Amino acid sequence: MTDFDTVDYFTDQSLVPDPHPYFDHMRAKCPVTQEPTFGVYAVTGYEEAAEVLKNSAEFSSAIAVGGPFPPLPFAIEGEDITDLIEQHRSQLPMYEHMVTMDPPNHTYARSLLNRLLTPARLKENEDFMWRLADRQIDEFIAQGKCEFLASYAKPFSLLVVADMLGVPEEDHEAFRIVLGAPRPGAQVGALDNEIVASNPLEWLDEKFSAYISDRRENPRDDVLTSLALAKYPDGSTPEVIDVVRSATFLFAAGQETTAKLLSASLRVLGDHPEVQAQLRADRTLIPAFIEETLRMDSPVKSGFRLAKRATSIGETEIPVGATVMVCPGAANRDPRRFDNPHEFRLDRANFREHMAFGRGVHSCPGGPLARVEGRVSIERILDRLGDIGIDEEKHGPAGARDYTYEPTFILRGLSDLNITFNANS
Ligand code: HEM
Repeated sequence: MTDFDTVDYFTDQSLVPDPHPYFDHMRAKCPVTQEPTFGVYAVTGYEEAAEVLKNSAEFSSAIAVGGPFPPLPFAIEGEDITDLIEQHRSQLPMYEHMVTMDPPNHTYARSLLNRLLTPARLKENEDFMWRLADRQIDEFIAQGKCEFLASYAKPFSLLVVADMLGVPEEDHEAFRIVLGAPRPGAQVGALDNEIVASNPLEWLDEKFSAYISDRRENPRDDVLTSLALAKYPDGSTPEVIDVVRSATFLFAAGQETTAKLLSASLRVLGDHPEVQAQLRADRTLIPAFIEETLRMDSPVKSGFRLAKRATSIGETEIPVGATVMVCPGAANRDPRRFDNPHEFRLDRANFREHMAFGRGVHSCPGGPLARVEGRVSIERILDRLGDIGIDEEKHGPAGARDYTYEPTFILRGLSDLNITFNANS
């Protein structure tokens, strides 16, 4: 039995399959509680999490991704570490991406997405999703079973981002290979060998630098051109590399998270035949189903902030330089906000209040996209796959399932999900 008062949240694998008893324990002590290993302030309460995320003036995102890893590259000195953060920013992981930036630089980096994530563009992207959903299902439907992450969730979420960014369809195959979602039996040809040997993120940067430079020289009527010609709010033109980073970060932020949402949804359909039957009978319930899955299985389990000055969260005093861990997964099961929080309920009145997409200036710009990905996928999967069940040979019988979750303290999601079904068409 794990002792929650002494456990190392960051490395102890016993918390991975189900972190919620730990989160409940921490919240019951106090919604803002210091954990023992690194002295990180864990925020497991709903109101308290929202308070931190909305306060970018006092909480820096410089350590948003790694939290206490690696340790800060400077010693905490003085009453305000804003200048120290700026001096050492480039020594922190992912410093070049918007998720770790603070205003005003964050505002600039994020503004480059405004041309991309418009309602009109989302609509075009949705049309692509319907075609893509069918294409992915075609790849495995004849087998009557599949490993859902590799067969559907990963390639689907990857190619939706590729399409959103206007990556030409002839390049999609290369993106699948490089970003770890290859077509079954894909042949790694001469060009592909070159791709696979290189670093995927470097490959993405090069690919997008080439697209953006080309569209600046030869503008066309396409999405990449619109991205290439985007200006900062003050009318100045960003460097190519800054446009590239805003674009390529969408793969990092939007692929795994959405794949985790899709696999969690399928697990619910398999584990709760009554929910599957309700959705089959009434498709208007699908949006509520997606929201409740986001609340129950929030793909982002924890994110981090650094206190620039001494401050407080709720009743808890926070010293300057403290690392604060906001846990959307825990906030979404705070009983002060959600009745019977561990119960999956399609009729929950306030299901939209979950904070799976965060809050404040960094709140997820891909939320609307992820929601459509969920709705389109569930619609087409219910149309084409009858009687979806969990493969008992792989995960054991109902009531005693054996699922493996990704061993990370940041994200929550299944490593694999094997399902069975009848092919409808
Ligand atoms: C179910 C799927 C998703 C979940 C649960 C999710 C969750 C989140 C959360 C919690 C944040 C806030 C991080 C913070 O405050 O430090 C975030 C940021 C972000 N997400 Fe998502 N996300 C999802 C899908 C997507 C998609 C599909 C895209 C784009 C294609 C995307 C792009 C981004 C970007 C660019 C940021 C950084 C925003 C900023 O720093 O201003 N996400 N996401």
